[in-house]
Amino acid sequence: MAAPRKFPIPAAPPVPVLAAAGDLRRDQDLTARELRLLLDLTHDLAGHPERYRDSLRGSYLALLFEKPSLRTRLTFELAIAQLGGGSVYTTGPIGEREPVKDVARNLERWVQGIVARTFTQQTVDDLAHWSSVPVINALSDLYHPCQAFADIAVLERHFHRLEGLKLAFIGDGNNVAHSLMISAARLGVHFAIANPPGYDPRPEIVAEARKLAAHGAKIALTHDAEEAVRSADAVYTDVWASMGQEHEAFQRNVHFESYRVDEALMKKAARNAVFMHCLPAKRGQETTDAVMESRHSVVFDQAEYRLHAQKALLLMLLPASGANS
Ligand code: CP
Ligand code: NVA
Repeated sequence: MAAPRKFPIPAAPPVPVLAAAGDLRRDQDLTARELRLLLDLTHDLAGHPERYRDSLRGSYLALLFEKPSLRTRLTFELAIAQLGGGSVYTTGPIGEREPVKDVARNLERWVQGIVARTFTQQTVDDLAHWSSVPVINALSDLYHPCQAFADIAVLERHFHRLEGLKLAFIGDGNNVAHSLMISAARLGVHFAIANPPGYDPRPEIVAEARKLAAHGAKIALTHDAEEAVRSADAVYTDVWASMGQEHEAFQRNVHFESYRVDEALMKKAARNAVFMHCLPAKRGQETTDAVMESRHSVVFDQAEYRLHAQKALLLMLLPASGANS
């Protein structure tokens, strides 16, 4: 495998140079130090994108998407282009026309990194197992780490700290909830989730998040939305039926009816709480137009930070120059 990238060290804040080469299959693939470095780099990239121009000249990404995307696809394409590289995109099932292990061993001959949005986490893991270039999870059934990294950076920029904040997630115990739970807890952010019975986060992921939690961060599970948002600094929600679950939408709409983040629920949170959503949002279901457009809403900051955070991730994971180009 090519040597880990040595990226420019930002003047402020100072960050250590780490050898973070590897895969990003799930949030916990980054060590705690690498996660901290990723956030520092993200903030620096947001403030000084020009410092990193051409840092990845000659590097190419393959974007393999089994599901639709606006933010993730476009921000990866823009990120690599603004760093001086390029990307190619395909959509459709991975591993149907030929085995995943063959796809992986084709791609590693052409590109310096693979970004994959998949139905199953197993596909991401298999791509990572069979390719020698870094594989980045762009959303699977279990995780959405790129989303969580950007969201945590938005929280840090907004509150100028992370430790001791409380993030409440109202809705399905899904991929976004899992990634937020892990990354938030590792950085000392208390995490509370309120979901309808039967839509709990995976117990093994909750257990892992609790194990990785730092600085006294607590993870609380409840079925009571008001209890979860009490004194929360951030209230987060996501669609009730994720991509691939559309056939369950009718029954989910019934089960989730009392888990809508509306203005009344936002009033139960801390006075200056922010409202967060990974987008796309279904106004009138998991949240309302009024909350989306309110002074609390930071949803478009989150979308913006997808670009900065993914640039940081690429700088950390991709080799210094395109080895195959
Ligand atoms: N939040 C997010 O991942 O959006 P897309 O599905 O549009 O990529
Ligand atoms: N949980 C949602 C997130 C979309 C960005 C999904 O998987 O469809």
